[in-house]
Amino acid sequence: MKEKIQMLKIQFQEEMKAVEKKEELERIRISYLGKKGKVTDILNKLKELNPDERRLTGKEINLLKNEITRIIDETGKILEEREFEETLSKTEKYDFTIPSLLTQGTLHPITIVQKQIEDIFKTMGFIIEDGLEIQTEFNNFEAANIPKNHPARDMQDTYYLENGQLLKTHTTAAQNYIMRKYGAPGKDETLKVLFPGRCFRNENIDACHENTFFQMEGMMIGEDISIANIIYFMKVLLSEVFKREVKVRLRPGFFPFVEPGFELDINCQICGGEGCPTCKQAGWLELLPCGMIHPNVLNMGGIDAEHYTGFAFGLGLTRLAMMKYEIKDIRVFNSGNLRILRQFKDR
Ligand code: DAH
Repeated sequence: MKEKIQMLKIQFQEEMKAVEKKEELERIRISYLGKKGKVTDILNKLKELNPDERRLTGKEINLLKNEITRIIDETGKILEEREFEETLSKTEKYDFTIPSLLTQGTLHPITIVQKQIEDIFKTMGFIIEDGLEIQTEFNNFEAANIPKNHPARDMQDTYYLENGQLLKTHTTAAQNYIMRKYGAPGKDETLKVLFPGRCFRNENIDACHENTFFQMEGMMIGEDISIANIIYFMKVLLSEVFKREVKVRLRPGFFPFVEPGFELDINCQICGGEGCPTCKQAGWLELLPCGMIHPNVLNMGGIDAEHYTGFAFGLGLTRLAMMKYEIKDIRVFNSGNLRILRQFKDR
């Protein structure tokens, strides 16, 4: 037995010298360690020996088995690396004269509309601000005059972090920060700010609801801002975006952070007002809620509501992009489907 094990070891070493490929290595592994392999064969025969011999031979054959396993594993790794290097050296041969297949990227439709509105408002003296996506409950709700347990919170369920912060449900969440950052405007001046942002809500997703969407908020504060100012700015906004006459209607709307509050609806651009899934058969789409900033909100932002008034609007940017480009399903925006998303080039 002892000689047989010795022979096996020499034979294995000889065979290993010639190995060049992983398949050859595998063949050797099977012929030694496989079910019917040479080492397995000896192991199976151990039970025919007497106890003393069995112990000695068992020890030796196990040592050999371990050694063979180790050598095969190590050689496997070396061969693998060698094969990898070879493929690399083949693929690294570039032909710089072949024209590139990459096409130029395009802006996302929401980005296009966002930039367009930013440009319009910049020419009218608005500052562009950026709000955080993770907000305190205070900024998102209390500062917007939505105290704890107010029913308006139900409509804006969102995602909460373990530390109590939340993913903001509306761009209104940045109002308090912006008021504090810039303070009340000087004599005969106004504070005009536009702040677009991504918002989140715990929504059931369908053709017109997403859990992640964009809004664009605007705010103008001064000594005698009135509803006339809102109407003027909203009209400029819509005519610039659609570059055509769009029917609108203004109706009273309730939002805790404005008083009075309005809903500015536009005639559904997808069905022309006849009713479709996008406008929930209404023919109208809520697009531009707005109103006069509630005195509590001004005061909480450190601006004295006795002396200042202001208007605010919260434009549904995602919805506006749907209307402008006649996109019927909101899910397209977050789909990453480039065949659809890269069609929108105009600014
Ligand atoms: N934050 C509101 C929402 O997401 C939208 C809104 C309504 C913003 C009226 C405003 C406003 O600034 O005046 O539902």
